[in-house]
Amino acid sequence: MAASCHSRAVSDTANRLIAWYGAHARALPWRVPPGAALPDDADFPYRVWLSEIMLQQTTVAAVRPYFADFTARWPNVAALAAADDGDVMQAWAGLGYYARARNLLACARAVTQRFGGVFPCDEAILRTLPGIGDYTAAAIAAFAFGRQAIVIDGNIERVITRHAGITAPLPGARADIRAAIAAMAPAHAGDFAQGVMDLAGRICTPRSPDCSACPIAGGCAARALGTPQAFPVKPAKRARPERRGTIWWIECGGAVLTVIRPAKGLLGGMRALPSCNWSGDALPPFAADWQDWGAVSHGFTHFELTLAVAATMLPTRPDLPGEWVMMEKLLDSGLPTVFRKAAVRALAARMETV
Ligand code: ADE
Repeated sequence: MAASCHSRAVSDTANRLIAWYGAHARALPWRVPPGAALPDDADFPYRVWLSEIMLQQTTVAAVRPYFADFTARWPNVAALAAADDGDVMQAWAGLGYYARARNLLACARAVTQRFGGVFPCDEAILRTLPGIGDYTAAAIAAFAFGRQAIVIDGNIERVITRHAGITAPLPGARADIRAAIAAMAPAHAGDFAQGVMDLAGRICTPRSPDCSACPIAGGCAARALGTPQAFPVKPAKRARPERRGTIWWIECGGAVLTVIRPAKGLLGGMRALPSCNWSGDALPPFAADWQDWGAVSHGFTHFELTLAVAATMLPTRPDLPGEWVMMEKLLDSGLPTVFRKAAVRALAARMETV
C-alpha cells in the first residue's frame, strides 16, 4: 500500500508540472506548444537539433537572433550541409564555444550523407553523430520525435536535485537524477523536460527560487529543508589557471591584418587578430615600433586569459599570411569575443594616439 501511495504521489508531481507548463510555456521558435502534436515535417527535427546545439552553454535570449538568422539562411539540414564553412563560422561568431559550430557542420553533413538528410530518432544512433552527446540525443528524441527519453541538463539537474533532495555532488548525482525522473514517470517526456526547463528559468532559479509560485513545491525536499539554494551540491572548485599572451595589431593604410586560426584547437577556424600561443611573454612577429595599447581579459571555461595589445602602424604591408580587413569592417568580420574585445581596445587606444 505504501509503495503505491508513493508512486501515485510522484506521478502527481509530473502531472502538476505538465499542467503548469500548459499554462506558462515560453513560446520558442523551435518548440511546439504544450500538448500539441509534433509536426510531420522533416525540417522540424533540424530546428530542434539546431536550437539544442546553440543552447548548450548559452541562454535562450542570446540564441534567439542566431536561430532566426541560421534558419533563414539555411532552412534545412541539406542547405546547412552545403554551406561554406567560413560563412557558418562567421554567422556563429559571438555565440562562443566554437567547436559547436564545427561539429554543427560535420553533423549536418553526416545526416545528409549517412541518413539521406533525415535525422534519426533513436538516442543511440543520434549519439554517433558529431556534437551530439547524451543530453542532446535525449532532447532531440523527446522534443522532435516524442520519444520517452530522460532529458537532463543543468537546469533540470537543479530542479530535480532540489525536489528529490539529492545531496550527492554533481556530476556523480546523475544516476540519482535519472532515477528520480524515471520514478515520476511523466506521460510526455518532451513536455515534462521543457516544462522543468521553464520552471528552472522562471521560478526555480539558482539564487532566488520563488517557492511560493512553484507548482511542485508541495513535494519538494529542498523547500521542506528551507535550503533550496544549497542544491545541486557542486564538487569542490579548483581555481581556473591564468594565461597571458599578446595580440599584434598590425595596421597599414586603414586596414588591419587578420588571420584564420588553425582548424583544430581553441577557436579553430575562426578569424582572429595575430597573436602568440598564450603561454606568457612573446616575441613580436617582426621588428617594429610596437606600442603598448593596454590589455583585455576574457574568461574561457578552463582558464582566464589576459591579452596585451601591441600595435604598430606601417607605411607598407609586410609580407605576412592573412587577410587585411578595413578597420571600419573589422567588428563585423566574424571575430570571436576575445578578439573583438582586443579590437575594441585597439580602436579606442588609436583614437588617443593618432
Ligand atoms: N535549453 C535547452 N533546450 C531548451 C528548450 N528546448 N527550451 C528551453 N530551454 C532550453
